[in-house]
Amino acid sequence: MSSKSSGPACHERAGPLGCSTKGRKPVKELFGKLADGTEIHRWSLENGGTRLKVLSYGGIVQSLEIPDREGRYANVSLGFDTIEDYVAGSPYFGALIGRYGNRIGAGRFTLDGETFQLSVNDGANSLHGGADGFDKAVWDVEPFEDGSDVGLRLRYTSVDGEQGYPGTLAVRVTYTLTERGEWRIDYEATTDKVTVVNLTNHVYWNLAGEGGGSIHDHRLTIAASRFTPVDAGLIPTGEPAEVAGTPFDFRGAKTVGEDIREADRQLLYAKGFDHNWVLDKGRTADPEWAATLSDPESGRTLKISTTEPGLQFYSGNFLDGTLVGPSGKIYRQGDALCLETQHFPDSPNKTSYPSTLLRPGQTYRSTTVHAFD
Ligand code: GLA
Repeated sequence: MSSKSSGPACHERAGPLGCSTKGRKPVKELFGKLADGTEIHRWSLENGGTRLKVLSYGGIVQSLEIPDREGRYANVSLGFDTIEDYVAGSPYFGALIGRYGNRIGAGRFTLDGETFQLSVNDGANSLHGGADGFDKAVWDVEPFEDGSDVGLRLRYTSVDGEQGYPGTLAVRVTYTLTERGEWRIDYEATTDKVTVVNLTNHVYWNLAGEGGGSIHDHRLTIAASRFTPVDAGLIPTGEPAEVAGTPFDFRGAKTVGEDIREADRQLLYAKGFDHNWVLDKGRTADPEWAATLSDPESGRTLKISTTEPGLQFYSGNFLDGTLVGPSGKIYRQGDALCLETQHFPDSPNKTSYPSTLLRPGQTYRSTTVHAFD
C-alpha cells in the first residue's frame, strides 16, 4: 500500500499541513530540457484536497493526487518522472490532444470543396492530431488565482498547415482546481480559415494509484444508450448502435472487466473497449454528467461532466508492459483507462455527426469537469 500513497495522510480535507483545503498559488520548477535546450517546467497546484502537477510540454498532467476513504493520497494518473521518458514515447499519458482527438479516416477530409491530407500516424489513419500533435507542443503557461479557484492558463498557436490542418489556430486551455477539489478544463480556439477542431485530454486513470494493477474491478457508468461501432481500423462505420444487450451497456454501474472478454467483434477490433459513446444528453451549453468511475477498494470516485456530445472510453488495451511509471511498476494491458470527452471520431467525414467545423469569427468552446469523492 505504501508504494501507492505519497504525502501525509489527510483524514479531513482541512487541517494537517499539506492537506489544506485552501488554494495555493501554483509553484513552478524546472522539469527538464528538450534536446534543443528548450526548458520544460512543471507547475504544482493544490485546492480542495486535490493536487495537480502539469508540464508545459503537451499540457501534460504528470500527476493528479486525491485521497482515498482513509485520507491517504495516491497519484491516480499514469505518467513518467522525466521529460526524456515523455519524449521517447508516451501513449499520450495525461496530454492535451489536438487538433483532433481520436481518428480521422485516411487522415483526409474535404472542407468547402478543398481536400486536406493530414499527418497519418495510426495505420492509414490520423490519430490525436497526427504524428506531432498538441501533446508534443510546448505550451505557454500562466498561473492564476481567482477567488477560491487556482489554475493555469495554457496557450498554443498552431500555424496554418500544421500536421496538414488548415488555418492558424489559437488555442487556450484553462486548468482550474476549484475549492471543492474539482479539476475543470475549459478549451477555447479561434481560427483564421475554416478548419476542424476536437480537443480533449488523455489522462489514464487508475483510482487505486498508478502502478496499482488492473482497473478491471473499477466500476463504470456511462450516461449513453448508444455508441459508434467501428471498422477494423477503429474508424466509426456510421450510424450509432444501441448499447442494450451488448458489452457496451454501461448505463448502470458495471465493472470494466465484466464483459471485456466477450467474443464481440467490436471488442476484438479494439482489443477491449476503445469506442465513442454517444452521450444521451447530447452537446450542452453547460457541463452535464457523462460518466462515473469508482474503485470499491480505495473508495475513490471520479465523476465527469462535460459539454461534449461524446466520450471515448479506452480500456488501456495497448499498454503492453514496456513502460515503467513513477511507482517503479510496469504498465500492462488494462492497468488504466481513459475517458476522453469529445466530438465523435471521423466527424469531418460523417455529415450525420455533430459538426466539428470552426470558421473565422467563431470561438470553439468545450468544458469538462472532473469531480472526486
Ligand atoms: C485513444 C485511442 C486509442 C489509443 C489511445 C492511445 O484512446 O482511441 O486507440 O490510440 O488513444 O494509445
